Amino acid sequence: MRTINYFSIKFEDDKFIFLDQTKLPHQEVYVATEDYERIAVAIEKLEVRGAPLIGVSAAYGLALSLKNIKSQNVEEVFYKAYNRLSSTRPTAVNLFMALDHLKTIFETRENDDDMYQLLLSEAKNLHSADKEKCRLIGLNALPLFTKKANVLTHCNTGLLATAGDGTAFNVIKTASEHGLINMVFVDETRPLFQGSRLTAFELEKHNIPFNIQTDSCAAVLMQQGKIDLVVTGADRIALNGDTANKIGTYALAVLCNFHNIPFYIAAPTTTIDRKTISGADIKIEFRNKLELLSINGNRITSENYEAFTPAFDVTPSHLIRGIITDEQVYFSPYNFLR
Ligand code: MRU
Repeated sequence: MRTINYFSIKFEDDKFIFLDQTKLPHQEVYVATEDYERIAVAIEKLEVRGAPLIGVSAAYGLALSLKNIKSQNVEEVFYKAYNRLSSTRPTAVNLFMALDHLKTIFETRENDDDMYQLLLSEAKNLHSADKEKCRLIGLNALPLFTKKANVLTHCNTGLLATAGDGTAFNVIKTASEHGLINMVFVDETRPLFQGSRLTAFELEKHNIPFNIQTDSCAAVLMQQGKIDLVVTGADRIALNGDTANKIGTYALAVLCNFHNIPFYIAAPTTTIDRKTISGADIKIEFRNKLELLSINGNRITSENYEAFTPAFDVTPSHLIRGIITDEQVYFSPYNFLR
């Protein structure tokens, strides 16, 4: 087993330190900041990404906004930072869960003393809670593995996407530690290559065997009987189980259904949005078309072409065999009101 010598975020000496994921896998560059605006930009640019990780990072950002401020400015500064951090990415509910948690703490404060320390300790609590949730997701998924499996996954859901060992990634990692993984098939995940750049990086660090393929290869792999199960993460799960995740996830679920292969979602309970009734109510982020029409800053098409650029899609719950959470594995029909 290789040493795991990287981290996604950490808070040290009153600074938020993050690994700039846009530079991976070739450069491991860490950035330290005390500025919530820098954290907001990091989330927008996907330097820090993945639903649980952006939630925890935004919480640290909101806490930092109150560092060294004069007490008469507390309200103004807090709401400015809250609004800025809330506006970074619309789909992952973890961002809003984390910011709203700190907002409740802020709004029920007895006085303005030590607000930075109070919010910081809440951000740290969210950080360690997410870590524990990841661990439980990995363990709860183990009974789903009936034999040594070939698993296909999409996007990146590991340490780089969470404050712990990951969601879908930790399902794979934990199964691998129990001798239950034969091969991981990694969708490259166009347009930003979270699969080929990030998931492959993490699988290599953990010594788990993998193959990278284009997203459009999944069908042929399934047709050839090479895939035993598919597991992905989630950015928001509606009350009825409809799930938003990285664009391409819905296509995988349809393919699994056609080939009778189990399709699982793995996510912490903080990704379940009980205020959202169904997938139709989930706001989908659209990204700048240059992310699709360029690679590493080089245009791959003629200038001025238009592009369709949703970052996420919604998989209807009836296509999801099970939703693996830190509490339990939920099976259809889903109703998270219970
Ligand atoms: O645009 P990204 O890279 O933030 O998208 C990430 C995903 O879609 C992940 O699958 C999801 O956030 C779950 S991460 C544990």
